[in-house]
Amino acid sequence: MSAGLDDSGGSEVSGVLSWFPIELPARQRVLGLFVAKWVIGALRPLVQLKIPDLLADGPRTAGQLAETTGADPDSLYRALRCVAAAGILREPADGTFALTAAADGLRSDVDDGVRDMFLFTCDPMMWRPYEDMLHTVRTGEPAFDNVFGAPFFDFLRENAGSAALFDRAMTQNHYPGTDRVFEQFDFSRFPRIADVGGGRGQFLAEVLSRHPGCTGAVCDQPQVVAEAKAEFERRDVADRASVVETDFFAEIPAGFDAYFIKHTLHNWNDRDAVRILERVRAAIGDDADARLLIVDMLLTGPGEWDLGKLTDIEMMAALGGRERGLAEWNRVAGAAGFVLANDPVPGDLALLEFRPV
Ligand SMILES: C[S@@+](CC[C@H](N)C(=O)[O-])C[C@H]1O[C@@H](n2cnc3c(N)ncnc32)[C@H](O)[C@@H]1O
Repeated sequence: MSAGLDDSGGSEVSGVLSWFPIELPARQRVLGLFVAKWVIGALRPLVQLKIPDLLADGPRTAGQLAETTGADPDSLYRALRCVAAAGILREPADGTFALTAAADGLRSDVDDGVRDMFLFTCDPMMWRPYEDMLHTVRTGEPAFDNVFGAPFFDFLRENAGSAALFDRAMTQNHYPGTDRVFEQFDFSRFPRIADVGGGRGQFLAEVLSRHPGCTGAVCDQPQVVAEAKAEFERRDVADRASVVETDFFAEIPAGFDAYFIKHTLHNWNDRDAVRILERVRAAIGDDADARLLIVDMLLTGPGEWDLGKLTDIEMMAALGGRERGLAEWNRVAGAAGFVLANDPVPGDLALLEFRPV
């Protein structure tokens, strides 16, 4: 046994290593991680070919699916078989493949699906930076910039197809943790709410539909908010929602009771996060009752399971941003002129309420 192993001799299987249905000798266990690579590799082309959509009316054989999509029958069959072995499709003994609930969520025509989020997360723009992680770890610089020659949001401004995929994915950026935030926090305290970096207005629409007394504005880049009006109409809140084209490093509009900023500050390093929050602080001016509401990961202590400790790697590789614990949030918000006003619960998503000082 290596001197570095603890009293258990390293025999405990915990964390992601416990998720794999493969019994491997302890010293080979990390190889189980590659299951994720193989399954994602097989699933991505199936989603691109809209196989989940094609299975919505019932099971089909690989041959039928190949004929409809024009794919190579043998390669398609092997990708389907892999994904079924992984439990994402079903492969009954009659030679067909059928949807599971997870695959149903990858259809293009379901309201609560994750197709765009899946395709974004395994798109080359989010995959290729991982080839260059050593650069990030050596230099502290995001690998994305090294691979694509520009920072993430500059790249999106130059690549409309990638930007549209990102914006669509963000409309699916909704997990049980998001519902917890919406259910536990009383947004009705704030008649006028600004959603800073609010994308296509998906979360502002959610808040407004839950709180009929609130009005709000989504503040994001012009090319992003261009789609927000349609979202507000779709959610039946268009009469209480407006759109403000914003560069949040330059100016954030004044006149709101709460400035909500969700899943956005983690895209930026501390220096840039402080710059954004300084713009929020300037917008609030001397309105002591106004609030900054940060909705983001709130990291737990050392050694604890925490999804944010994993998504932090994506922030580091692609954006040069970071997930933060309470001390880090207090430092960043404090530097911009805010002090914490609630007792946030750490977790995969938390709401931190700050008041201006
Ligand atoms: C990760 S997305 C989060 C979107 C949304 N809040 C959510 O939770 O799904 C970050 C958002 O920041 C916006 N953003 C990036 N740079 C910006 C800038 N300079 N000014 C305004 N918004 C910006 C992006 O357009 C994007 O919508």
